[in-house]
Amino acid sequence: MKQATPMNTDIIKKDPTKFTKTPNISDYTSSYKDFTWEKAEKEFVTFFEDGTVNAAYNMIDRHVENGKGDKTALIYKGANGENETYTFQQLQKLSNQFANALTSLDVEKGDRFFIFLPAIPERYVAFLGGLKLGSIVGTMFAAFQEAALIDRLSDSKAKILITNAVLFPRIEKIWKDLPHLEKVIIVERGSQDQPKGDTIVYYKDLMDKASEDFAIAHLSKDDFSYMLYTSGTTGKPKGVVHAHGDILQAIVTTKYVLDVQDDDIYWCTADLGWVTGVVYGALGPWGLGVTQVMSEARFSPEGWYQLLQDTKVTVWYTAPTAIRMLMGSSVKVKDYDLSSLRHLCSVGEPLNPEAVMWSYEVYGLPFHDTWWQTELGGISITNFPIMDIKPGSMGKPLPGVVAAIVDDEGKEILDEAEGNLALRPETVSSIMKQIWNNEEKYNSYFSHGWYLSGDRAFKDKDGYFWFVGRADDVIKTMGERVGPFEVESSLVECEEVIEAGVIGKPDELRGEIIKAFVVLKPGIEGTDELKEKLKAYVKQHLAGHAYPREIEFIDKLPKTRSGKIMRRLLKAKELGLPLGDTSTLEDY
Ligand code: PRX
Repeated sequence: MKQATPMNTDIIKKDPTKFTKTPNISDYTSSYKDFTWEKAEKEFVTFFEDGTVNAAYNMIDRHVENGKGDKTALIYKGANGENETYTFQQLQKLSNQFANALTSLDVEKGDRFFIFLPAIPERYVAFLGGLKLGSIVGTMFAAFQEAALIDRLSDSKAKILITNAVLFPRIEKIWKDLPHLEKVIIVERGSQDQPKGDTIVYYKDLMDKASEDFAIAHLSKDDFSYMLYTSGTTGKPKGVVHAHGDILQAIVTTKYVLDVQDDDIYWCTADLGWVTGVVYGALGPWGLGVTQVMSEARFSPEGWYQLLQDTKVTVWYTAPTAIRMLMGSSVKVKDYDLSSLRHLCSVGEPLNPEAVMWSYEVYGLPFHDTWWQTELGGISITNFPIMDIKPGSMGKPLPGVVAAIVDDEGKEILDEAEGNLALRPETVSSIMKQIWNNEEKYNSYFSHGWYLSGDRAFKDKDGYFWFVGRADDVIKTMGERVGPFEVESSLVECEEVIEAGVIGKPDELRGEIIKAFVVLKPGIEGTDELKEKLKAYVKQHLAGHAYPREIEFIDKLPKTRSGKIMRRLLKAKELGLPLGDTSTLEDY
């Protein structure tokens, strides 16, 4: 087995006397030893008297009941300069109204309610309202196009969807194929002309009619709360389902890892369509009752720095691609007053040591890498504020979590060699509760008592984990998870294409970019115009971020004798690596 070696970069030593605030965890080793989920649950989650729970009650109402109703919960910066703030009490009333609105549309516990909106406050109101009622809330990126939408809405049999006039035409095109979708709620904000129809209702009308009081659903910890579709190597995206009790790990990690404290101004840059946006842009911070910032604008270094300065963000959670873009930008950090920042974290893809060292130099603060997955529902391996950082390492397991590197038989690998990154599933409190409609897929994650992450990694002698790569063909581009199969399916819908093989190609800025190898029909010429046409097709039919930035036309794809595309070989060829075992390859 390959022996991996840690990156040869200086360790960033932590000096507790230099912290502007005492971190919430002051000693990793003893916290790891003393921690139990049972104790943490008592400390962080409020149950109703009958022993039931509701995540939204824990995020909003209990803070109002504890006298924090006037505290700002949300600072919203719109794309057109809108500036709005919402207190916990305002969010309580709005989410109650929305829960009543959903009830008036016959949404009941367990029904799937989907959110397809840009980053506007109504998105959160809808999310909270859906949780209060006990519906299973599905969130989606506003970048999704018909193919991505239909996969999610039809597999989940979503009953109600909330969107706006700009995004609605994409739903309109596919609605005929969604017999379970009874009504669409349109949020009026931002558009003059609203779509009309018998099955269309308007946010404002519903809210105007709805009471500000709502009897929050009393649920069990295992009752489902939200679902997110995520990509694997094969087939369509799978619906990862989480439960109300999963808020515990969200809160614990927001406190211990992101180190958020009561008077912090916290900004998680992730979109609600991604699990980071759900867990760390809603469940965790509001579970702790802190003020968070939300920005609708697209990324720009000037815009982000301005926002950090204007809102005096203290804790910032973002992703490696954004950090690398800031690093490569000509915008000068010293032109902004970022002195409020005190703790920085990153997630979603490998955080290269250069980015950690750069941030340490320019902000005076290193980014702390955190590792987890949609399926895990919360940070599981991470760097803590108190812990020395080995730049390039994902850090150590969260207290409560048992992680290891195992071989294919589930035997722990102890000699710093590479293997499968695995977790004891019962130690990850927020681990997924189901893959929607797909027990076989759910079961496939577990083997020999381990949850297998699909990531390859190694653990060094000090117990730090280092990411090596994916064990499968899943692509991570700009932090987002893209299944090669979805992109291949989209490409073969184009009339010029016979088949396509898609890989992730390493890219300094984006982590990976999507590269497609395309076989054209006889007589079709592989021109640059055709490449642009194919890219545009995927952008318009699948999703804005999931298109191949590179296309290469080839005569034939490498396949196994049973006809499966060998993406591994395409990748090896692309990168000039050894081809490895080709015994299952058909003539190529
Ligand atoms: O491959 C790992 C990568 O992202 C995958 C999980 O993707 P997703 O479910 O979209 O992420 C949800 C939020 C984290 C992992 O299997 N990944 C995530 N964090 C890191 C990472 N790879 C390296 N370093 C990380 N910190």
